[in-house]
Amino acid sequence: RIGDAERGAEIFAKCAGCHEIGQGAVHRVGPHLNGIFDRKVAQFHDFRYSESIERARRDGMVWDLEHLDAYLENPKALVSGTRMNFPGLKEQRDRNDVLAFLRQFSAS
Ligand code: HEM
Repeated sequence: RIGDAERGAEIFAKCAGCHEIGQGAVHRVGPHLNGIFDRKVAQFHDFRYSESIERARRDGMVWDLEHLDAYLENPKALVSGTRMNFPGLKEQRDRNDVLAFLRQFSAS
């Protein structure tokens, strides 16, 4: 168990302007986030990613817990030039809770 998924659902309000998750979720400004855990980065062929995150995909980056945590803390520190214009969640507790929420929509 990573964190508190119910609290994470409230924190996800910070993401929901750009991302959908759950049944029927579609790509918006950002790709939908169903099944994100342990998937290789930038896997959707029907979403137009930045060249920066495409490079990370070609380098073999996977969205495991460590990479998701780092991306949510400071997206541009992990993927320089990513199109995700989000300052990051600076509190570990907030990241743990939103990750617990995201994991509810992933198989692992
Ligand atoms: C990409 C999560 C906030 C826009 C991603 C990815 C994840 C993620 C996991 C990688 C998707 C993939 O590899 O298929 C989150 C979470 C957020 C958040 C959990 C809140 C804590 C935002 C916000 C925006 C945004 C607020 C818009 C201002 C994007 C875009 C991408 C992306 C455009 C594609 C990045 C690229 O092509 O370089 N997000 N995101 N995200 N997100 Fe977010």
